[in-house]
Amino acid sequence: MEERLQKLLAAAGVASRRKAESLIAAGRVSVNGRIVTEPGTKADFGKDHIEVDGEAVTRKERKIYVMLNKPAGYLCTVSDPQGRPTVLELLPDWHTRLYPVGRLDMDTTGLLLLSNDGAFTNQMIHPSKRINKVYRVTVAGSPDEEDLALLRGGLVTEEETFAPAKIRFLSKKGKKTTWEVVIHEGKKRQVRRMFREIGHEVESLARTNFDFLSLKGLKEGEWRFLKKEEVRRLLRDAKGAPPPERARFAAPPPKRKTRERYPFYKK
Ligand code: URA
Repeated sequence: MEERLQKLLAAAGVASRRKAESLIAAGRVSVNGRIVTEPGTKADFGKDHIEVDGEAVTRKERKIYVMLNKPAGYLCTVSDPQGRPTVLELLPDWHTRLYPVGRLDMDTTGLLLLSNDGAFTNQMIHPSKRINKVYRVTVAGSPDEEDLALLRGGLVTEEETFAPAKIRFLSKKGKKTTWEVVIHEGKKRQVRRMFREIGHEVESLARTNFDFLSLKGLKEGEWRFLKKEEVRRLLRDAKGAPPPERARFAAPPPKRKTRERYPFYKK
């Protein structure tokens, strides 16, 4: 968006607006290689190259941290070659590169963070950080204790090893059961694959919590900015030692292969 030059320079932290006006008047500011001395000149950080004393000036980007209650049917991607709806369509355009912090599948609903702060995103999704994510998962049938022990102990498949999950029974309706699952990893389709491995297809999946954050007050499709204190606390949690309930994951019980229990299991 075009703005008066002194406003842009002030926003970039070069000088106060008054001081920026003096810089312009003194012929120290150029736009696209041409010295500008007119006080009302407008420019656009997105299109124009602005210099002060020969040094390029770039926009100081406002950091944005958003929590969205993602509905089903939206992809966690910035753009989709097939033109399917993306989560960015549920948010205003802040003229910045906003990325989902990790992914939820198209059919998964619930708590999704988005940010233009790459360092924050890395801290949140790096597997070593052990940030807990809580899911409510409804599956076909009712996994028995032995099935659940596989997931709780850290499932090992031919392709992959999943860290131990905390699993709690929530409810049963007809032939379906609903569980709360806590994991810190963010592997592709992890919860769906974990339950498939023990023979129970996931029928619906929602993320209810991300670390200490919950969806309280946010209906599906709604979003809010994270508070500064929430961002600080997330970063602290990513840096800090694992809290006691996470420390339990540090020394998982001996692992059993799914195939020992399901020798005829087919992919
Ligand atoms: N696990 C999944 O299988 N899907 C998600 O969207 C998130 C976790």
